[in-house]
Amino acid sequence: MAEKHYSIAIDGPSGAGKSTLAQAVARELGLVYVDTGAIYRSVGYYAYQKGVDPRDQQAVAALLPEIHIEITYGEDGLQHMLLNGTDVTREIRLPEISMYASHVSAIPAVRAFLLDMQREMARSHSVIMDGRDIGTVVLPDADVKIFLTAAPEDRARRRFLELEQRGTPQEYDQLLAEIKQRDYNDAHRASSPLRQAEDALLLDTTGNTFEQSLALLLKTIREKL
Ligand code: DC
Repeated sequence: MAEKHYSIAIDGPSGAGKSTLAQAVARELGLVYVDTGAIYRSVGYYAYQKGVDPRDQQAVAALLPEIHIEITYGEDGLQHMLLNGTDVTREIRLPEISMYASHVSAIPAVRAFLLDMQREMARSHSVIMDGRDIGTVVLPDADVKIFLTAAPEDRARRRFLELEQRGTPQEYDQLLAEIKQRDYNDAHRASSPLRQAEDALLLDTTGNTFEQSLALLLKTIREKL
């Protein structure tokens, strides 16, 4: 009999702590962590490299046949993104790529192009997958669905500290404005908008430390599994 794989879907707006928390849960429970935002970022990065306007649906769709994306895991256990054979894990985190990713992710052809790849990951591994539409579209039958959120100011503050640590600081006010703009884009697009699945549990991490949020998340997941 085929081995049963578990899937945990974590959706929510950017900067709510999804990726750091999901990575920690993956380590604790022995699951594969899949950051689906990195996949959209890879497509956004390709459009950026090619000088294509990420809002131009037809131009972006025309690039898709040239794009081959792979997810690999390094010796450090961290997810790496290969774009046409080149490791772009670092480049896709450049601040200007966030808006590219947000625009290309609104294009139905891009979402359709990436859907199978995400589902295949969950078919072949026990996963904790984070994104915007994992519980609603990618894995509607996930064993656990969590909608993780926090106040925009809290998320901008975290992002500010993260970028400062990384040596690429940005103004807090600009980060807050970008977060609000991306929230709006992600929630108002016609194709797979960000929304809480009916059967997802809401976790608001505003004001929490990382440890508090992790404890809450693990407790919620263990109760469900
Ligand atoms: O989580 P992130 O900031 O790395 O995601 C980058 C962009 O990709 C973000 O604007 C939303 C989009 N995205 C999406 O539409 N669906 C997903 N499952 C994951 C990310």
